[in-house]
Amino acid sequence: MSKVALCFSFNTNKTSLAAKKIAEAFGQTQVELVNAESITPEEFLSYKKYILGVPTWFDGELPNYWDEFIPALEDLDLKGRKFALFGNGDQKGYPENFVDGMGLMAAILEKCGATLTGYTSTNGYEFERSKACRGDQFVGLALDFENQGKQINQKIKDWVDQLKKEF
Ligand SMILES: Cc1cc2nc3c(=O)[nH]c(=O)nc-3n(C[C@H](O)[C@H](O)[C@H](O)COP(=O)(O)O)c2cc1C
Repeated sequence: MSKVALCFSFNTNKTSLAAKKIAEAFGQTQVELVNAESITPEEFLSYKKYILGVPTWFDGELPNYWDEFIPALEDLDLKGRKFALFGNGDQKGYPENFVDGMGLMAAILEKCGATLTGYTSTNGYEFERSKACRGDQFVGLALDFENQGKQINQKIKDWVDQLKKEF
C-alpha cells in the first residue's frame, strides 16, 4: 500500500493528539505526517490516499490554515484519490454547528472529483445540526474531546480498522 498522507495542523493541540493516535493505530510506516499549515499543491498531489484533520472553529467554519489552502485545493483534479476526514468538535458547546468543518471540506473534495471513505455512524452523539451529516452518518470521524474524551481511543481504533479495509 502506498503511503497515506496524514495532513493536519502541527500547531494544534487536540487535532495533533488525535493524529498521533491515528498514526500509531495505522502503523507509523504506513503514514506520512504532513503539516496543513505549509502544504503546497505539488506536495499535496504527490499522494494518492489522504487522512485530513479538519476541526471546526468560528461557529461552523474551517480554521484559517485550511481556508488559506482552499483556493489552491479547488483547482486540483482529485479523481482517483481517496480521502478520509476526522474532525474535532464540541457537540454541547456548538450543537447547531457540530463538526461542520468536515462537511465543508467533504463538499470541496467531492467537487474536485475525490472519493470519500471513512464514514461513521451518528449514533451516540447529541447535537441539533451538522453540515457533516449524510443521513445517519458523518462524512468522517467526529471526535469530541470536550464531552467524549474517554471514547476517543476506541473510536480511533475502530475507524483505522475500517480505513485499512476501505483504502
Ligand atoms: C472559538 C471556538 C469556536 C468553536 N466552534 C465550533 C463549532 O462551530 N463547532 C464545533 O463542533 N466545535 C467548535 N469548537 C470546538 C473545537 O472544534 C474543539 O475544541 C476542537 O477540539 C479544537 O481542536 P483543535 O484545538 O485541534 O483545533 C470551537 C471552539 C472554539 C474555541
